[in-house]
Amino acid sequence: MDRIAVLTSGGDAPGMNACIRAVVRSALNNKMDIYGVERGYAGLVKGEIKRLNTRSVSDMIHKGGTFLSTARCPEFKDIEVQRQAVEALSAYGIEGLVVIGGDGTFRGAKDLSDNFGIRVMGIPGTIDNDLSYTDYTVGFDTAVNTVLWAINNLRDTFHSHDRVGLLEVMGRNCGDIAVYAGVAGGAEYVLVPEVPYNLDKIASSIKKSYLRGKTSNMIILAEGAGNRDEIAEYIAKKSGIEVKVTNFGHIQRGGSPNMADRVLAARFGYKAVELLKEKKESCAIGIRDNKVITVPFSEVQGTRDKFDTELYNIAHILGL
Ligand code: ADP
Ligand code: F6P
Repeated sequence: MDRIAVLTSGGDAPGMNACIRAVVRSALNNKMDIYGVERGYAGLVKGEIKRLNTRSVSDMIHKGGTFLSTARCPEFKDIEVQRQAVEALSAYGIEGLVVIGGDGTFRGAKDLSDNFGIRVMGIPGTIDNDLSYTDYTVGFDTAVNTVLWAINNLRDTFHSHDRVGLLEVMGRNCGDIAVYAGVAGGAEYVLVPEVPYNLDKIASSIKKSYLRGKTSNMIILAEGAGNRDEIAEYIAKKSGIEVKVTNFGHIQRGGSPNMADRVLAARFGYKAVELLKEKKESCAIGIRDNKVITVPFSEVQGTRDKFDTELYNIAHILGL
């Protein structure tokens, strides 16, 4: 394969630039022509494609976001729209594609592969860590550390004021950011979509902890687990103690990728190019037990089954 392209799609994640860099430099090392598609599938459909060289990715490894830009393109589910993307690829003579994104991005990749025979390699890039087949996605580790920074700051002020705080974090329908940040930040309660919770019990436990002299409590709420204001209001009403709400929002999506995400990005980007060079079937790349693995896109779809219940329990045992 002589000519390939790379794009980023869905929500951006720290480490996407490091991953593009790895794809570009690995391709050039194999004497391949490498192109960058701007704005994900939206840009692909419009033919927003540019040639990249080694300098295109200079000074990129440490930058958050994605210099190729990303977008959501709901119309890409339509096969006729996909056909336009395929025409754009063939206009440039591009034979293989690397897509960096999440579950939705991989659905688009599967369609390009199944419907048009395009060879597509998928790299998991999302802060959510919501793909079952891989232990980690690029961006998750950095996002959790950013959340941890927020928890540390909130702990300072809530401890000083004897307050209960509720921090909402991202993750879509996945509780991983909340659980990892909760364990690392010493939160008392972690609410995730994967595990039912009882607000009456939480309210009563907070009240009891106040009576025995523990006057500061932190609740981490995964965005998919409920409405932050309603939950805070309910706990406050039941416990008689005010609950201060913070929504951390998009701050957790930005920032310089940490070591774990940069190394993961390098390993995934390198692997994607190797697979294209060897003309392997389209697949998703992941990591399991610190080994880079590949999985057919058909096995990536479906429900998520890797929630770490043990870690979730540890959060609550240690947060008492
Ligand atoms: P992520 O890749 O992070 O899960 P999205 O769910 O927003 O983010 O998906 C990214 C893009 O992937 C969508 O905007 C759309 O262009 C494409 N996509 C999502 N679902 C499908 C699908 N069922 N078929 C084809 N393309 C899809
Ligand atoms: O998928 C990444 C993510 O940040 C989710 O955690 C969140 O639900 C969503 O994207 C937010 O999307 P947007 O940036 O479009 O508001």
